[in-house]
Amino acid sequence: MYCIDVLLEEHDHITDFIKVARNACCSIIDGQPIYNDDFNKMLNFGKVYADSLHHKKEEDILFNAMIQEVGGPAEKMIRNGMLVEHDIGRLYLSELDKAMNEYLLSPSTQLKLKIITNLSAYCDLLERHIVKENQVAYPFGQKTLSTQTLQRLDDETKHFENNSQNASHREYYLNVLNELQEKYC
Ligand SMILES: [Fe+2]
Ligand SMILES: [Fe+2]
Repeated sequence: MYCIDVLLEEHDHITDFIKVARNACCSIIDGQPIYNDDFNKMLNFGKVYADSLHHKKEEDILFNAMIQEVGGPAEKMIRNGMLVEHDIGRLYLSELDKAMNEYLLSPSTQLKLKIITNLSAYCDLLERHIVKENQVAYPFGQKTLSTQTLQRLDDETKHFENNSQNASHREYYLNVLNELQEKYC
């Protein structure tokens, strides 16, 4: 199914991002300076690729259909689990953003800790979240949604993927990820 294949492929890229971000956090603990450009790229990868492209597709397309059509346990899992975790991820990113801005103005060990804490917590959250979606949420959707709805979700995903702004963001951030992997993996 195209819709789920696209989401699964994005999970693979986000998993690569998690490795990069963890290695970058470890490099700070080992005494490297915080390279602001790299951390900004990681922050924006989270905001744009993981959130605006990936989580948005889940929320507006797949999860929305599961809530509307399946309801019951699917709705509970999505509203109380997946959507709450998306929001916690957004909170970590906004705290990371704040800490990075403050660090630029006035570097301190406390702010370094805040940067590492939020980026690392974001990685842990995404890692667990991806396992739940791959093993439970996506298969549940695929099993319970009608063939007609699954076809509609494929069409909506194609439309989203073909949107020129989404396509250029995807290409840009996958290049950013490659660059970061060369440096940190
Ligand atoms: Fe998700
Ligand atoms: Fe996901």
